[in-house]
Amino acid sequence: MQKLSAGLKQEGRKIGFIPTMGYLHEGHISLVNKSKSENDVTVTSIYVNPTQFGQNEDYGKYPRDFDRDNSILEKAGCDILFYPEDSAIYPAGYQTYINVQEITKVLEGEFRPGHFTGVATIVNILFNIVKPDRAYFGQKDAQQCAVIQQMTLDLKLDVEIRVMPIVRERDGLAMSSRNKYLNEKERKDALDLFRALSMAKGLIENGERNTELIEKKMMEILKSVDSSAPDYTRIVNSRSFDREQELREGVSYYLLIACRIGATRLIDNFLLTVN
Ligand code: PAJ
Repeated sequence: MQKLSAGLKQEGRKIGFIPTMGYLHEGHISLVNKSKSENDVTVTSIYVNPTQFGQNEDYGKYPRDFDRDNSILEKAGCDILFYPEDSAIYPAGYQTYINVQEITKVLEGEFRPGHFTGVATIVNILFNIVKPDRAYFGQKDAQQCAVIQQMTLDLKLDVEIRVMPIVRERDGLAMSSRNKYLNEKERKDALDLFRALSMAKGLIENGERNTELIEKKMMEILKSVDSSAPDYTRIVNSRSFDREQELREGVSYYLLIACRIGATRLIDNFLLTVN
């Protein structure tokens, strides 16, 4: 892969890159399509990165289906599928990790200690192998995008980070490889994330500006379902990820939710500008 990318660059071809952990859905494919429209060559990687999973998380049972993913990517017209083995990424004796300090202290960073160190580390390794001109990420993982943008800025990486909108199921559920874990009842309950976010958006559109109150109302919706165990409902400044007591006009905010439905941990968010 490293040699292939070096050759492509020498020919002056622009490389678009979509890092994934596989079990692909339309959210991933929207990133592939965007890359195809903006670059000469599109590379997708599939690698379930062990260093970004906590000890009690779902690394072992994370859905994997190479043949399915391979044919989805072929159909989508992705040029190159990079599918490395653990021993190539983290060979024996591996000892370097990347720590983005501030933005990783809250939200996902708080509930999944070490998660973003794993993410920043693997993305940096993949960037060094694939050498993309542009890399595509989903707003679905809003804080992950912010972490990668910060790393790219701080380490002077020569990659343009492109953040693309969330692709949803018809009823509003954000697409996720983890949706596969949900049984029929949980699939219905999972819609509460979208419902809570929609309700909060409505409150803001009707003039509500008190962050804590809106967060509480989102939490009430999540708690009304017995299969759900919310981690957080949070409204943060979309740039700094800081919380503000009162929403301000002209400022963009993320409304963020992390919630377990049964044993499955789901995240979702809306990005909106108060006016
Ligand atoms: P994964 O969860 O497979 O997601 C790969 C990319 O697809 C991420 O940028 C994610 O935000 C995006 N994505 C997921 N669901 C989406 C949706 N419904 N709409 C739009 N985009 C969506 O995120 C990871 O993998 C890993 O952390 C990774 C960056 C590959 C590092 O291991």
